[in-house]
Formats: sequence, structure tokens, C-alpha cells
Amino acid sequence: MARILINFAHPMKSRSTINRALLSVIQDLDQVTVNDLYDHYPDFMIDVEREQRLCEEHDVIIFQHPFYWYSTPSIVKEWLDLVLQHGWAYGSTGDALSGKLFLQAMSAGGDASTYTKDGYNGFTFAELTSPMRATANLCKMTWLPPFVVAGVHRGLPKEQVQAHANDYHRVVTALRDDRLDLEHVLRSETLNSDLNQAIKGQ
Ligand SMILES: Cc1cc2nc3c(=O)[nH]c(=O)nc-3n(C[C@H](O)[C@H](O)[C@H](O)COP(=O)(O)O)c2cc1C
Repeated sequence: MARILINFAHPMKSRSTINRALLSVIQDLDQVTVNDLYDHYPDFMIDVEREQRLCEEHDVIIFQHPFYWYSTPSIVKEWLDLVLQHGWAYGSTGDALSGKLFLQAMSAGGDASTYTKDGYNGFTFAELTSPMRATANLCKMTWLPPFVVAGVHRGLPKEQVQAHANDYHRVVTALRDDRLDLEHVLRSETLNSDLNQAIKGQ
């Protein structure tokens, strides 16, 4: 079984609906470690050694967060700046993350239809998350298309929140149990666009 690290980043968790719901269904799973970055580092003083050790101890690294200004909450950028050191994460001797899987799991206020070339936001999720993809590539990780819950700005009905939480549970357990069809998934724009095809043996 693969070990999964969830680097969770939400600066106002008490006001979160969707990220809290997603987190609640996976946090007690076997082989899953939740690392709440804002909880651990309210002053942004990231313990680089601790974070590197956590990465080394896991096979799959997930950043779960709300989409903020077409990107991540700021602590994720701080984490990347400090933790992904030359000679550890990248460079000729930087192999600590090599071969691990990388996933962004995020919620966005805007509807999916606004994230198209001609839509209100003018860019796709694939385009907007490309710096994370490039980062994963530089660190020799296997990047996965993001798990996206879009259209949360008006508040989703309870049943939809629960459906997204179920999907997230399916994805995390499939990653843990090596049941994700990587070939299929890598052809998709978002990981959760067609989970029946993306997950093997269900
Ligand atoms: C500072 C800030 C920036 C945001 N930027 C975006 C954005 O660029 N695109 C978008 O679709 N939603 C944006 N939103 C909306 C959040 O993504 C949305 O509130 C969040 O995903 C809801 O998740 P939660 O229920 O877990 O808080 C932003 C919200 C805040 C507070």
C-alpha cells in the first residue's frame, strides 16, 4: 500500500465548507497522514527538516487547498520555496522526491464553465496549475491532473458536497491501493472528470 501525505492549506478552516468536507472523509484512513500547514505554521516559520522527512516517508504527496487568486494559498508557495531545496528535491543529486506521485486537490469559487479560453476567467485549470506541474516535473515526480471541485461560490447543496467528498475518498483510496489507471488519468484535464474510468477494479 502506498503512503499518502496530504499537505492541507486553508487559512480559515473554521469557515470552510468544501475543504473541510473533503478532509473529513480521508483523514482517518490507513496510510494517510494529514499535515495541516496553517495549523503547524501560523507564523509561516516552516520546519524544513520536518517537511522533508514527511515527504521522504510518503509515496504520494497531495496539496489540498482552496484556489486563491488562480493559485494556492500563500503558505504553499512558502513551503515550495523553502522545502524544495537544490540537492534534495532537484539538481543532479536531488532525488528525494523522484518517482513519487504529485496531486493538487482544490476547490474553486468559479464554475468550471468559466475556466475555458473563451470563458469568464480566460484560462483552463490545466493552464493555471502548470507551474505546479513544472515543479513536480523538475523534482522528477509523476504529476497527476488536479482533482477540482468548481463552482463553490454560491455554496453547493449538501448532496453535492457529499458526492465530491465520496469522489475524493475514492481517489485517495485508489492512490493508496494502486488502483488508479495512470494512462487514462494522464489524458484527462482533471482527475475527477470520470472516476469510473480512472479507477481500476471497482
Ligand atoms: C483570497 C481569495 C482568493 C480567491 N481566489 C479565487 C480564484 O482565483 N478563483 C476562484 O475560482 N475562486 C477564488 N476564491 C474562492 C475560493 O476558491 C472558495 O471560496 C473556496 O474554494 C471555498 O472552499 P472552502 O469552502 O473550503 O473555503 C478565492 C477566495 C479567497 C478568499
